[in-house]
Amino acid sequence: MALPGGAVVPWKTLNSEQVQWLRRSLLSWYSQQGRDLPWRQTRDPYAIWVSEVMLQQTQVKTVLPYYQRWLQQFPSIVALAGADQQQVLKIWQGLGYYARARNLHRAAQILAAEWEGQLPQTLEGLMQLPGIGRTTAGAILSAAFNLPTPILDGNVKRVLARLVALPVPPRQALTDLWQLSTTLLDPQWPRDFNQGLMDLGATLCKPKQPGCDRCPWSVQCLAAQHNWQTQLPMTESRPPLPHKQIGVAVIWNNQQQILIDRRPQSGLLGGLWEFPGGKVEPGESIPDCIAREIQEELGIEVAVGDHLITVDHAYTHFKVTLMVHHCRHLAGEPQPLACDEVRWVRLAELADFPFPKANQDIIAALQAEQQEAGNP
Ligand code: ADE
Repeated sequence: MALPGGAVVPWKTLNSEQVQWLRRSLLSWYSQQGRDLPWRQTRDPYAIWVSEVMLQQTQVKTVLPYYQRWLQQFPSIVALAGADQQQVLKIWQGLGYYARARNLHRAAQILAAEWEGQLPQTLEGLMQLPGIGRTTAGAILSAAFNLPTPILDGNVKRVLARLVALPVPPRQALTDLWQLSTTLLDPQWPRDFNQGLMDLGATLCKPKQPGCDRCPWSVQCLAAQHNWQTQLPMTESRPPLPHKQIGVAVIWNNQQQILIDRRPQSGLLGGLWEFPGGKVEPGESIPDCIAREIQEELGIEVAVGDHLITVDHAYTHFKVTLMVHHCRHLAGEPQPLACDEVRWVRLAELADFPFPKANQDIIAALQAEQQEAGNP
């Protein structure tokens, strides 16, 4: 395979001396510079599993308080299995990618029912559980049991792509990258090697302005040698994200209650509560959209009133703009036609329900309005 500069990719030719050197230099760096993180102070496979799932799409500093709260609330697999899903989603609220919380909960129920509340100690066993892919399974087995199972998360892909100057985007070379992670992994110290590899990616081999001058691997790193750090890993061109305009209703009844609904379990943000609404059709006004969606999804008639707030939010695969209006309930009993449940709640009760991030901005706007009106 040709490199940008015409050289040859060396991963098939990494000799055992190079591999030994890479192992030793990483382990030595990790013993001095590795981060002191709470999931590294435990060998409890459950706590390590929770940390790995939280860290799948979220940075360490964001995860830290969630990790502590989760383990206080659900200290064991059996405790998690016995919890209510709403409680689980409430603890996860704000971390995003809520399927991770639903999967942890479901997996705990499977483990409690079929595995005596213990995590399996094999890749195959772990990967059969919802929410555990190959890299999460590898990270759990190496961290909890010191087993020589490789990892390949986003940070590790970047480190390895730079090390060998990968001439294609990582997604097109997954087999080779897994092979490289497997070859490099130190069979004697798999726990520390994998944790060190993660720390290298998170603290030095960063996407922008990597700290090559402090990197234990820089003398063997082809990207560092050729000054290709900013070009590697190669990226795939992506079409821009679709942008959805959503009309959203804060529906009030005569008892000063607000109507909320729980999203279906399957699909985006499943199981979380939201203010009802839906997509604006071409040429449709926001009030017309809201009245139509509320009729279609809840079978009730509302009068659409003042604009409350507009919220922009970016999900992984699309962006949304929520245009939120106060509404008054006019007629009909709300029915869960397109959701799992509907409820009338008071403003002060909204904090008890798990809501996605964009909906929390709506709650904050409602609270601010109430305070301005002198009703703290
Ligand atoms: N990212 C994924 N797993 C991690 C771990 N164990 N420590 C730090 N960052 C991580």
